[in-house]
Amino acid sequence: MTDLNAQARDILIRNDRGGYTVPTHGLYPYQWNWDSAFVALGFAEFDRDRAWQEIETLISGQWDDGMIPHIIFHKDDPGYFPGPSVWATGKTPATSGITQPPVLATIVRKLWEDEGADPTHSRMRRLYDACLKSHRWFHVFRDPKANGLVMVTHNWETGRDNSSEWDDALARVDTSNVGDYQRRDTGHVDAAMRPTQNEYDRYVAILQFGRNCGWNHREIADNGPFRMIDVGMSMELLRANRDLLAMAKAMGDAAVIVELEARIALSEKGMDWLWNEEAGAYCSRDATTDQSSGLVTNASFLAFYAGVGNSTQRARLIAALERITGSATYLVPSLEAGSRAYDHKRYWRGPIWLVVSYMVAQGLVEAGHNAWADRICSDSARLIEKSGFYESFSPEDGSGSGGPDFSWTAAMWLAWCS
Ligand code: DGY
Repeated sequence: MTDLNAQARDILIRNDRGGYTVPTHGLYPYQWNWDSAFVALGFAEFDRDRAWQEIETLISGQWDDGMIPHIIFHKDDPGYFPGPSVWATGKTPATSGITQPPVLATIVRKLWEDEGADPTHSRMRRLYDACLKSHRWFHVFRDPKANGLVMVTHNWETGRDNSSEWDDALARVDTSNVGDYQRRDTGHVDAAMRPTQNEYDRYVAILQFGRNCGWNHREIADNGPFRMIDVGMSMELLRANRDLLAMAKAMGDAAVIVELEARIALSEKGMDWLWNEEAGAYCSRDATTDQSSGLVTNASFLAFYAGVGNSTQRARLIAALERITGSATYLVPSLEAGSRAYDHKRYWRGPIWLVVSYMVAQGLVEAGHNAWADRICSDSARLIEKSGFYESFSPEDGSGSGGPDFSWTAAMWLAWCS
């Protein structure tokens, strides 16, 4: 146990590039948005200043319109594709042109509360402003149905890059003008654990649409080639708005309190649009065709974390979790076995990701399902004990997949499952 604590700290220290942490050496050599948020929780266990700094460095890349980009390219690294010259956003520091799951406000609130919840805390106040600006960006640019849910315009935004939820929408993306490019990811890890070439071409084509319109977020939202309402980000933004509201209340920020309460009410009501009665779960849905994916993923279980669902819906989600234990030795797989294109080794089509498990478990505790939360926590610890600090893990045999020495996995060990 102690040895794993030391190893986890060592991973964070070795992945530190000076004020920010790379997710893993080689495969992901820059600063990633939601990775950094979770990494801050790990640093907070032994270096609180460094924890705050991780997020402060991240928001140095925030755009004037409020978007917090999914990658900040602090230093160029030829080992990654698509790098800063491919995104060509023209920003300083260089960044990608898309965002990632809005978990920052939730983590800022935790760091702040752990330090006594002082409303004059200057580091919290600065990050509160950045989170508010980012949440407003989501409401302005990413709520096409005006129902408080989150539309993504690239599957990379969801963090669950190649989940089967995106397959139908991706199939409609035109790849005829993608041209030649050299993938780098499959030079770092086994190609069987990464998206296929056909999928990657579609990811690049969506990127090119954004670049060709000069990263005009209105144009991308209205006419982009990929428009999905993501169950994960919708749940995460609702949760993050609740956490931002708690900070707004502590500071007595009256106008923001009114604004956030309205947003929260809208999202709570809107979430039913994602409920799929047949699947008995919240599922991502296409913003263009309205088609529900019908797929039960780990993000479906974020309903508890977001605080949504009536008693019948919640009971069905618990029944789904119970059913999944029949095919998964470890919880919570990113896709239920037997679902479309399930693969226990391939990225987000089955493998377990500890940061999602952490949010799911946190929500289950808050909903009083302590036994389920304990099960997820102890499964997560067993995965690390068995295989080390991998990017993700097979729900069937617990083997590690993706990159090794992964920062957020180390952070989850330190802050949660050890
Ligand atoms: C990758 O390169 O696979 C990343 O997940 C994109 O953010």
